[in-house]
Amino acid sequence: PNTAFIFDLDGVIVDTAKFHFLAWRKLANDLGFDFTEEQNEQLKGVSRVESLKKILQWGNMELSEDEFTRQMALKNENYLSYVEEMDDSEILPGVPEILDYLIKNNIPFALGSASKNARTILKKINLFEKFDAIIDGTDVSKAKPDPEVFLIAADKLNARPDNCIVFEDSVAGVQAANKGNMTSIGIGDKTVLGEADHVFKDFTEIEIEFIEKLLRKEK
Ligand code: BG6
Ligand code: MG
Repeated sequence: PNTAFIFDLDGVIVDTAKFHFLAWRKLANDLGFDFTEEQNEQLKGVSRVESLKKILQWGNMELSEDEFTRQMALKNENYLSYVEEMDDSEILPGVPEILDYLIKNNIPFALGSASKNARTILKKINLFEKFDAIIDGTDVSKAKPDPEVFLIAADKLNARPDNCIVFEDSVAGVQAANKGNMTSIGIGDKTVLGEADHVFKDFTEIEIEFIEKLLRKEK
């Protein structure tokens, strides 16, 4: 049986989490309220629709269906204006090294992202061709913390879920990996991602020995 690796995109491969935050915050500010970076943790990994619902709750606001759709489009436009400026210098430290290691050792890996912009971003940073499978917000019907996106990825890579190792920067994503019976590796703050099986500040903290230990646990 195959061991496979699954990477979230935003905040794991590339630091687009900061652009999502800026764009959502602008939307809230334009509607007349604000939210904190702490609240923003709850938006990470969450789909566009669910994110806007949460934000409107924080601002005690309701929008008509049309206005809701319009605000989502405005947010995405604003977000994409940041994405447009991106290149491969935005790939997070340690990521190229781990991907190269997996390629050298013939270990399949997929992208498992909630974003509908995932393919655009992967192309911008020149990683589109490297993934054996790409599952994103256009491929799923259930948002993280539902494990659907990761289960589809496992299936595409011909790996059993319990042989999959998922890298996530969001609480919702860690929960999705856990629900899918996968090994969850949190990338970020231990106090936020405590539900993950392992947490690292970033990829530069992950030693190859650790990856090899995970691979030996192959079931
Ligand atoms: C996730 C991000 O990867 O994708 C969320 O962590 C974002 O912040 C979600 O809302 C949906 O992304 P998009 O690009 O389809 O709006
Ligand atoms: Mg993320």
